[in-house]
Amino acid sequence: MKISIKDLTLEQKLKLLTGKDFWQIDNSSGKIPRFFMSDGPNGLRKIKEKDGLAQSGTETGTVTATAMPTLSLVANTWNEDLARLDSTTIADECIENDVQVLLAPGVNIKRTPLNGRNFEYISEDPIVAGRMGKAFIEGAQNKGVGTSLKHYCVNNRERYRFDQSSEVDERTLREIYLLPFEIATKAKPWTVMCSYNPINGVFASENKYLLNDVLRDEFGYDGVIVSDWGAVASRYKALKASLDLQMPFHKDSYDNLKNALDKGLITEQDIDKSVARILALIEKSEKAKDIRKVEWSKCERHENGVKIAQEGIVLLKNDGALPITRGKALVCTPNGFAPRCSGSGSAKVQTDYKPKALWQLLSDINGDDVKYDWAGYMRDAYEKAIHNDTIVISVDADEEGEAFDRERITIGTRSLQVIKAIAPLRELGKKVVVLVYAGSAVDMSEWIDSVDAVVFCGLGGECIDEALAPILAGKVSPSGKLTETFPLSLEDTFCGSDYGDGYVEEYTDRVFVGYRYYEKYGKKVLFPFGHGLSYANFEYSNLKVEKMSETDYQVSYDITNKSDIDAKEVSQIYVRDFNAMVARPIKELKNFSKDLIKAGQTKTVTLTLDYRSFAYYSPVYKRWQVENGAFEIIVGSSSQDLRLSKIIDIELSDDTQNSQWIVYC
Ligand code: GLC
Repeated sequence: MKISIKDLTLEQKLKLLTGKDFWQIDNSSGKIPRFFMSDGPNGLRKIKEKDGLAQSGTETGTVTATAMPTLSLVANTWNEDLARLDSTTIADECIENDVQVLLAPGVNIKRTPLNGRNFEYISEDPIVAGRMGKAFIEGAQNKGVGTSLKHYCVNNRERYRFDQSSEVDERTLREIYLLPFEIATKAKPWTVMCSYNPINGVFASENKYLLNDVLRDEFGYDGVIVSDWGAVASRYKALKASLDLQMPFHKDSYDNLKNALDKGLITEQDIDKSVARILALIEKSEKAKDIRKVEWSKCERHENGVKIAQEGIVLLKNDGALPITRGKALVCTPNGFAPRCSGSGSAKVQTDYKPKALWQLLSDINGDDVKYDWAGYMRDAYEKAIHNDTIVISVDADEEGEAFDRERITIGTRSLQVIKAIAPLRELGKKVVVLVYAGSAVDMSEWIDSVDAVVFCGLGGECIDEALAPILAGKVSPSGKLTETFPLSLEDTFCGSDYGDGYVEEYTDRVFVGYRYYEKYGKKVLFPFGHGLSYANFEYSNLKVEKMSETDYQVSYDITNKSDIDAKEVSQIYVRDFNAMVARPIKELKNFSKDLIKAGQTKTVTLTLDYRSFAYYSPVYKRWQVENGAFEIIVGSSSQDLRLSKIIDIELSDDTQNSQWIVYC
């Protein structure tokens, strides 16, 4: 089915640019097949249609779907294959529900732990955000379901998200906030969604520099740019900026375009460029019909979620309390506790899955060796704790969600009370383990020293406790690592508790975001970016750095698993520039790998560094620039657990430096 632009009247073209209803593209009086879009990053959130019509509200409810681990937990796997499995699983349910585009992934940088939507996002680091987002796009689109890379761009908090302009310098824009999109667009997302906020004083939906000059002309993106829902202020100005599709339908948009055309503010060519991109999108979707096949049952999708969540769980602290392999263990949770699947808003999935309680799951696994019991967050917990060897306390932090930011990053008061009541029992030889369920960084400094072990479980959808139990029981080694820094306190973060004034937020932290900030100012943190413990002990050795060309290097190193348990390790390569004539972070992540290393075995990891691994963005040259001189290549198990390093000298000719635009490859 090929729809030609010539087959459309001007009226049909204008309607094509402004949506049919809340979730669909206009069908041009039947000439264009159904094209339905639905959220989201943590599973299918599709508002039920009524009489074949998409609903703007949620009165009809949302279809039941698999509540997958939130994208922030998927990120903590550092496993691009699992990011693909995640979106492939969600795409399976899109196909089952006749949804053509999944409105995900979000790759916005986690600049402050207060951001209400951090649970939907990936990292404080642009390369982790870009690569995991790219893999997510690949998974769904390999199955014939489109995606929407969002929210383009510099949308890093929820309060004032419609109005507050993000004021950011060009170098910071390129090196931090645009880089995830530059990387992820290499997967050719069917759509890119612009954000609500202005950037440097111009709404994202009307920001021609960012939408057309950067995203299209520089990054080479030729797909459809869709607005966030309600993000278009002036439809014709958005069209001029190269925004193709306004969502949802708005009654004034047709006239706005028609009047602008009549006044010569836009041309038929402007209209046809966007119409052509939308028709190409429809055609792409039609061609993908052959590969759009449901392949998993509901149970198998759930199992996929468990597998992903299990690799995203991060063991933050372990003074020998884990795994639990003998004696008596008590699991304490608030009465009727079930870990929150997700934060609220457009990413929240309606699941009907009823998970077993954690203590029962643990009993199922090693109930022969360990006797498990449960207690509520009441006196019962304390009295029972006295008669147990290990006490596991489940805690969570404040609700997170779209359209609001957190006020604090500590755990709930009740949770803190329970920890403070039970922790002193360690003097009797008890072991105390805390499980933290939250979608973003948590300040644990008030109690972390009074417990033996802490596990960060993220917001893991319907799957988290089934993923967690084998880890606590010692059947699986934890392998997740943090993709955002956990600070010692909110006051230690750059933004602190400042939300901006609703008009302009000045990004005066510049490129010094996340670990780049804490390291530059020598600030201690609770747990650093890239941190995550294992039951295995990994030894790094034999670093080799081989020059492959004038700009590219091959980095290889050995990792030996010195333990008796098979385990996965995330190794990270950081680069330090000693000579730059611009202010650069002390070091920056430039590559990473997650590898299974069997007990007692050694694996050689081989990664590459290229021109961009050494370059900074020069607003003077208006391109990426490498300062010739000494660089340190550092291999670490986290950003602070550095194992190997080597200094190299880079001398690039002017021709190389001035060569064609070097876009992230
Ligand atoms: C919301 C969100 C966006 C979502 C869209 C549709 O406002 O910002 O992420 O995909 O609207 O629900």
